[in-house]
Amino acid sequence: MSKKLYIKTYGCQMNVYDSLRMADVLAPLGYRAAETPEAADLVVLNTCHIREKASEKVFSELGRLRQLKAARAESGGRMMIAVAGCVAQAEGEEILRRAPQVDLVFGPQTYHRLAALVTEAARSEAGVIDTSFPSESKFDHLPEEARPQGAAAYLSIQEGCDKFCTFCVVPYTRGAEQSRPAAAVLAEARRLVAAGTREITLLGQNVNAYHGEGPGGAGPGGEVWGLGRLLFALAEIDGLARLRYTTSHPRDMDDELIAAHRDLAQVMPYLHLPVQSGSDKILAAMNRRHAAADYLRVVERLRGVRPDLALSSDFIVGFPGESDQDFAETLRLVTEVGYAQAYSFKYSPRPGTPAADVADQVPEPVKAERLAMLQSLLAEQQIAFNQGCVGQELEVLFEAEGRRGGQLLGRSPFMQAVHVAAPARLKGRLLPVRIESAHPNSLAGRLSEAAGEIGGAWRDARDAGVMEVAS
Ligand code: SAH
Ligand code: SF4
Ligand code: F3S
Repeated sequence: MSKKLYIKTYGCQMNVYDSLRMADVLAPLGYRAAETPEAADLVVLNTCHIREKASEKVFSELGRLRQLKAARAESGGRMMIAVAGCVAQAEGEEILRRAPQVDLVFGPQTYHRLAALVTEAARSEAGVIDTSFPSESKFDHLPEEARPQGAAAYLSIQEGCDKFCTFCVVPYTRGAEQSRPAAAVLAEARRLVAAGTREITLLGQNVNAYHGEGPGGAGPGGEVWGLGRLLFALAEIDGLARLRYTTSHPRDMDDELIAAHRDLAQVMPYLHLPVQSGSDKILAAMNRRHAAADYLRVVERLRGVRPDLALSSDFIVGFPGESDQDFAETLRLVTEVGYAQAYSFKYSPRPGTPAADVADQVPEPVKAERLAMLQSLLAEQQIAFNQGCVGQELEVLFEAEGRRGGQLLGRSPFMQAVHVAAPARLKGRLLPVRIESAHPNSLAGRLSEAAGEIGGAWRDARDAGVMEVAS
């Protein structure tokens, strides 16, 4: 019997990946995607706990869902509500206390058991909770069958974090660092490519700390692969045109990974490498285990092998103890690096993390002022970077139809969104685009006639029958 499933995803790309896999786990139970929560028999909120705002959103959404659930019950039906992800892991039973309309609470490491959990919750009067950190890895129990993700896909290769930055909940919500075996990653990548994927983004909270069992197995003589080694192996997959990975820690950019940026055309010239702060005092208080100069050295090495590398980062302003001088050092680092884009946040004290209990909290108005200053500098850099692309020819992977008719939306090698007038049949293709204009958050261009200049794109264009090809 067909039932309807609606999953709302908050937070990072790992949650996006997890949501896709939850749908795969529930498919054999007859669950198919619903367009809206109103139409769903099971609504899953896959939540994020990283900042207070993120986790509070969940409770306001649960308020709305309570009304939908009540309306459904009045008409004799039943809607089940599940809370998954990092808020589920962090708050567990507290969720059932605050929101008794919830039927099921489960953490990021237990959703391979979702079919059994849903069945149990359907029978039970009280809410069902599974926020354990099981000894088995969910990845060994997820179905091989996955719905195709399209031209650009996510693939989780590493989970959890052992770094314990003093502001961060991730080590508590996701658990200890764990890497999937290389063979499993390669097999999943091949399946994605066979289903039409051209670009894979490898995911992990600390993706460049990846240390997976090599294809030879764990036994004597078995090897451990780092991310660099894994990228070299993935680059061998025919038809896989682009590789990205996120999120990286500056301390884990090792020689082999830098060599992958140097030697592999598939590794895109864009890297999200969060620094958080430019002040050594604050970096130490954050337990980041690197100084500003270490970060700058890593950037220099990367740009030494890939001069066109575009960089992105995360920043926290108003971390406890941050002085005007510390903040000025962050601005100085931003000026020195020059970012193509970045995310920045006001420090949000999180229960259970060491920094939350420090006395020296920065007042809210100071945080707001610093955030505005930082964001205006970052926005200037982003606009300058985008404008520098005007007139260039960039390869664009078309991922979706644009909001306006006759338009496709794709990504440049540097992760910029690119709007192009193009027929829908080119979705999924990688094509050269002449960039004509730049906006703060996107580029616009037209399909290039000089397609022959770019190898892979040239073949794509020929295969798509949109370009005359003289052979
Ligand atoms: N693993 C990544 C980051 C994961 S969390 C890394 O090590 O960089 C994503 C971003 O959220 C962080 O980079 C940080 O900038 C921000 N963040 C995490 N905890 C926060 C907090 N308590 N307050 C504000 N921002 C926070
Ligand atoms: Fe959080 Fe730090 Fe781990 Fe990143 S490295 S997930 S910021 S504890
Ligand atoms: Fe949020 Fe959990 Fe990701 S806290 S950022 S969803 S790892």
